[in-house]
Amino acid sequence: MTGAVRTPGRGKVWFVGAGPGAPDLITVRGAAVIAAADVVVWAASLVMADTVAGARADAEVLDSSRLTLEDVCAVYDRAAAEGLAVARVHSGDPTLWGAVGEQIEQCDARGLDWEIVPGVSSLAAAAAAVGRELTVPEVAQSVILTRFATATPMPGNEDLRAFAAHGTTMALFLSAKRGRAVQRELLAGGYPLDTPCAVVYRASWPDEAVYRCTLDELAATLRDAKLHKHTLILVGPALDAGGRRSHLYAPDFGHEFRRAAP
Ligand SMILES: C[S@@+](CC[C@H](N)C(=O)[O-])C[C@H]1O[C@@H](n2cnc3c(N)ncnc32)[C@H](O)[C@@H]1O
Repeated sequence: MTGAVRTPGRGKVWFVGAGPGAPDLITVRGAAVIAAADVVVWAASLVMADTVAGARADAEVLDSSRLTLEDVCAVYDRAAAEGLAVARVHSGDPTLWGAVGEQIEQCDARGLDWEIVPGVSSLAAAAAAVGRELTVPEVAQSVILTRFATATPMPGNEDLRAFAAHGTTMALFLSAKRGRAVQRELLAGGYPLDTPCAVVYRASWPDEAVYRCTLDELAATLRDAKLHKHTLILVGPALDAGGRRSHLYAPDFGHEFRRAAP
């Protein structure tokens, strides 16, 4: 069962990725789910209002910024009892720091159907704003998505310094408030002082801002721009790499759909 399809008489929750901000960066499926929903629960702090503007005129629209998990579960109770379709709209992609796991457990406990509709993550929007590829042949072929520990502690085996030792592209979510500590850990892990960084504030929003700097300037860049939230930090040599070309489009490299030039 995919898309905005529902079973008559049965309630269902769709965890919809809203995309990074710009309302036209939601998926076609996500927009269709919102347009069909009886109840739309959305995070006004992280999602632009236009993203949910396509909700039915008679839909109940709730801002989750002021709700607890228990409040949202009360909506799921009603969905189960009354056969309602709920669009639970999360910023970016719901599977990245979206707190959907705990909601899925609650849906399962109620015998409520659920489905995840993927979204464009702020990672993709930030890379687009910077205009760089995050994976560059022979420079960086891996991307580490992580965060600095704040109220949510990091598991013991996920150490920023150890991640930094890989020297590849890293994206730091939820970490702008801890600029000095992030810079310290990344340098201690082995990234050189002149490692290129990009700090992207509200990627794809009308007030999007991109700051380029080197790693030794990262904390000062965050501080001077007063960036605490809605900010993604990209780090790694791929952000400045040029002059590399892929095998895939090289004339002497053949594959299933194209013969190599003789
Ligand atoms: C709770 S997480 C949600 C991430 C989201 N699920 C995603 O896929 O982008 C919130 C963090 O994502 C990043 N973020 C979300 N939207 C952003 C945007 N438009 N521009 C820059 N960073 C953003 C910031 O690091 C923010 O602190």
